[in-house]
Amino acid sequence: MSQLNRRRFLKTSAAAASAVMAAPAIGRAGQSANDKLGVAIIGVNGRGGEHINEFLNDERTEIRVIVDVDEAVANRRCDDIEKKQGLRPKPVSDMRRAFEDSSIDLISTATPNHWHALTGIWAMQAGKDAYVEKPVCHNVYEGTALIAAARKYGRMCQVGTQCRSSKAVIEAVAFMRNGGIGEVKFARGLCYKRRKSIGQRGDYAIPANVNFDMWSGPATLTDPKCTREKFHYDWHWQRHYGNGDLGNQGPHQTDVARWGLGIDTHPSTILTYGGRLGYQVERNDPNYVDGGDTGNTEVSIYDYGDKCMVFETRGLSVDDSDDEELNTLFQSKSGNKVGVVFYGTEGTLVQVSYEHCLVFDKDMKVAKEFKGGGEHFKNFVSACQSRKVEDLNADVREGHLSAAVSHLGNISYYMGEENRVDVSDISAVLKDVKSLDDNEVTLQRTVKHLTKNGVELDKYKMSLGALLQFDPEKELFTNNDAANAMLTREYREPYVCPRADKV
Ligand SMILES: NC(=O)c1ccc[n+]([C@@H]2O[C@H](COP(=O)([O-])OP(=O)(O)OC[C@H]3O[C@@H](n4cnc5c(N)ncnc54)[C@H](O)[C@@H]3O)[C@@H](O)[C@H]2O)c1
Repeated sequence: MSQLNRRRFLKTSAAAASAVMAAPAIGRAGQSANDKLGVAIIGVNGRGGEHINEFLNDERTEIRVIVDVDEAVANRRCDDIEKKQGLRPKPVSDMRRAFEDSSIDLISTATPNHWHALTGIWAMQAGKDAYVEKPVCHNVYEGTALIAAARKYGRMCQVGTQCRSSKAVIEAVAFMRNGGIGEVKFARGLCYKRRKSIGQRGDYAIPANVNFDMWSGPATLTDPKCTREKFHYDWHWQRHYGNGDLGNQGPHQTDVARWGLGIDTHPSTILTYGGRLGYQVERNDPNYVDGGDTGNTEVSIYDYGDKCMVFETRGLSVDDSDDEELNTLFQSKSGNKVGVVFYGTEGTLVQVSYEHCLVFDKDMKVAKEFKGGGEHFKNFVSACQSRKVEDLNADVREGHLSAAVSHLGNISYYMGEENRVDVSDISAVLKDVKSLDDNEVTLQRTVKHLTKNGVELDKYKMSLGALLQFDPEKELFTNNDAANAMLTREYREPYVCPRADKV
């Protein structure tokens, strides 16, 4: 057994033992006679469609309930499923109906982020196993509570970071952990992915079929109700519900970076700089106010003591890249680059996509490559059958640590977003920020990117976030009380996500 797996095994063996006691409910009353595991899928507009396909393609499962607070979305999906599966699932709008249903053994959820943890906790309290999309929580304390619920109720909780089941990434990480590129202490996660403005901030109608109270759930009910033009999906860029791209695409890469570096804890120092920039330039209107309030351009620096991670988010046009080093590493001149670069003493390893990794020697020549995807949902179902937490490729604890990277980076940004400064001020502060990156080089690359997109940085300044010190054991900032308040949120009854000791 590898060291990593051994550690995971020891950590989870107690929980696994209790999970065996609470073996799956195959064959209990209410379940159809076919002995398949009954599935409820929650939130099925976008990503939920993939969840449906995955369970339709697993002969061990049957989709029995579809939950969506948008009645039209739920019915459309049920119609499709009926054609493929024969059995039409029951459409419901309140997920608690699925949790009460004794024909349901496991749930998967692809709701907006602010619902993830509470959905998982309610499901596991009701004795269901749970596949929860990334980021597994909307804030740090929700992640801790979700882990506590999985352990207390002996349930399987898999996180939707599917790279964990990808052959290419599994083999690349093993290669690196066995010294394939020498000593590796630093990784750079990239999300260079165009995100256009979501339109003017305004007062938009809620679609007629949507139960907005249930959609809002653990978040406060806003007034105006919807400030974005498009109701579904674009909540990603409103912090009340989403976590920006650092917390959207980010958790896939922060997870691979943490996994590859062998980091099993939170960072101790965090700093983010950046902004939501460029949309006024694109609209040729200095007074344009976009509906989003998460950063579209960010650099987050995380210090883990002897290791370091940097995550770069770029949402403006990345069409033509003239970054020769990154072009070589990704073997692509396209500016769209989503992946992780690991810098070793003997070479460099790049996760180019979910199913492809490249190894470069010291002369930047390709020395090796890893290819192949995986079956993340099937891995979840297998663990639901084996009742062994260590069989899960992405147990909730991994998801929590990786989501927290995004949350901590965002908190630094939010704490400093009114601190608009000149590039030289950021440069001066970065000199004292502990990092294994060349902080100044990364800053200048970011400046170049913004300038290329027409952002005049003396007019539209970047924000310098708070330099935060974090105690990974206590999960508390040690130098900023206001930041501590952002580790959780104010909930409204009955959508209260309990603290870990109250699950
Ligand atoms: N793993 C991946 O590669 C991947 C890819 C895309 C999205 N995602 C994740 O999937 C999630 C959903 O993203 P999306 O783009 O599909 O969003 P979306 O807004 O298009 O869909 C969300 C759906 O959830 C429904 N919903 C909201 N609250 C609900 C509730 N309380 N109960 C039941 N349904 C509810 C909405 O009505 C909507 O139909 C996000 O968390 C995202 O991060 C993961």
